[in-house]
Amino acid sequence: MKSKYKVADISLADTGKKRIEWAEHDMPVLRFIRERFAKEKPLKGLNMSACLHVTAETANLVRTLKAGGAHILLCASNPLSTQDDVAAALVTHYEIPVWAKRGESNKSYYENIHAAIKHKPTITMDDGADLVSTIHAEYPEMAPSIIGSMEETTTGVIRLRAMERDKALKFPVIAVNDAETKYLFDNRYGTGQSTVDGIIRATDFLLAGKNVVVAGYGWCGRGFAMRAKGMGANVIVTEVNPIRAIEAALDGFRVMPMIDAAKIGDLFCTLTGDINVIRKEHFEVMKDGAIAANSGHFNVEIDIPALEKMSKKVKKDVRKNVDRYILKNGKSVYLLAEGRLVNLACAEGHPASVMDMSFSVQALTTEWAVKNRSKLKPKVYKVPVEIDTTVAAMKLKSMGIDIDVLTPKQIEYLNSWEMGT
Ligand SMILES: NC(=O)c1ccc[n+]([C@@H]2O[C@H](COP(=O)([O-])OP(=O)(O)OC[C@H]3O[C@@H](n4cnc5c(N)ncnc54)[C@H](O)[C@@H]3O)[C@@H](O)[C@H]2O)c1
Repeated sequence: MKSKYKVADISLADTGKKRIEWAEHDMPVLRFIRERFAKEKPLKGLNMSACLHVTAETANLVRTLKAGGAHILLCASNPLSTQDDVAAALVTHYEIPVWAKRGESNKSYYENIHAAIKHKPTITMDDGADLVSTIHAEYPEMAPSIIGSMEETTTGVIRLRAMERDKALKFPVIAVNDAETKYLFDNRYGTGQSTVDGIIRATDFLLAGKNVVVAGYGWCGRGFAMRAKGMGANVIVTEVNPIRAIEAALDGFRVMPMIDAAKIGDLFCTLTGDINVIRKEHFEVMKDGAIAANSGHFNVEIDIPALEKMSKKVKKDVRKNVDRYILKNGKSVYLLAEGRLVNLACAEGHPASVMDMSFSVQALTTEWAVKNRSKLKPKVYKVPVEIDTTVAAMKLKSMGIDIDVLTPKQIEYLNSWEMGT
C-alpha cells in the first residue's frame, strides 16, 4: 500500500475541524476520558484499526484513543456515511490516517478495509463486523496477535454471535452495542431523531397526517416510531416478533403485515437488521409516489434488485439522495440513499450527545480489553457492568442531574428475602 491515507478532498480539513470541535462540546464524558487517557496512556504503543462511520463524533473517539497512546487508523464502515470534511481534518489536523470517501465503490470500500488490516492492528473496532470478518476470511494468521475487537452495532453483534456459534471466531470480541448506555440511547433516541432528520433533509416531506410505516419495533424502530408520531404521522408498525408487536400495539400504533401496510403507506422505513423486508409483492401494491428508506445497518432490507427488475426506468438523483423508480405498472417509488442508512447518508448520523455515551463505552471497553488481555478467549463478551454504570454516572453529572442514593436500610431490604407481607 503506497499511500498513507485516502480521502476525497484534503482541502476540506478546516471545515471538518470546526465540525469535530462542535461535536466535542456535546461529548463531555468522552472529553473527560480523553484527558485521563492523555495522562495515563493505557493504549501505549498499540496499533489499532477502527472501521466506523467517519463522522465528527467518531473523530472525537479516535482522538481519544490516540491520546491514550494508540497508533490508530480509521476506515469507513459504509460507502455512503463518510463525512469528507471530517476525514480530511483527521489527516491534516490530528495526524490520524483515514481511508474513507463518501460515495465510493464496493472495491474502494474493501481497499480501505485492507489498508486497515495492513496497519497490523492488535486491537480492532467495527461497526457491522466487516473488518473482523475480512480478517477471519483472508488473514487468519493475524488472529493470535489480536487482543480483542469492539463491535458497535446490532447487526455486527448478530454476525459475531453466529461466528461464535459456528466455532469460527478466532479472537475475543466485546459487544459494545449491548451495553445499556449504548442501545437504550444511541439506537432509540439517536436513530429515532437522525432518521427523521435524514428523511426530511432528503425529501422535505411533511410527516404530519401521513401514513408512516416502521418495519421492526426494536430499539431503533421504537425510537423512529416515537419521533414520527411526535411530528403528527399516523404510524403503522410491522413486526415478526409477537412480543414486540404487542408492545407496539400497546404503545398506540397500528400493527399489521407489510403486505397490508404497503397499500396505505406514504413513507416506509426499515429498521430490522433483516433482509428483503420490503420486496416485490409490497412494491406492487404501493401507492404512486411512495417513499422507501432504510435505517438498518446493511442495504439489504429493501429488495433493490427486485425494484430494479420491476422498473421500466430509474431516474437517478431527482433530488439529492433520491432516486425515482418508474414501475412497469406506471406508478413511481422513491428510494432514499440507495437503501443505505438514511440517517448517515442524508443527514449527519446521531447527535453528539448520544454518541458521547456510545463512544465512552468504546474507549473504556478498549482499555478494559487491554488490561485483561491475558484472560480473554475467542468469544463474544458483554461490556462489564461497571463500565455501563460509570458512563451513566458521568453523563448524569454532565447533565447536572442528581439522583437518590440507597440508604443502608434499603440496601439491606433489597438484599434480603425474610421480610414479606
Ligand atoms: N441507523 C443507525 O445509525 C443505526 C444505529 C444503531 C443500529 N442500527 C441498525 O439498525 C438495525 C436494527 O437495530 P436494533 O438495535 O433496533 O435491533 P433490534 O434487534 O432491537 O430490533 C430489530 C427488530 O426488527 C424485527 N424484525 C426482524 N425481521 C423483521 C421483518 N422481516 N419484518 C418486521 N420486523 C422484523 C425484530 O423482530 C426486532 O424486533 C440493525 O441493523 C442495527 O445494526 C442502525
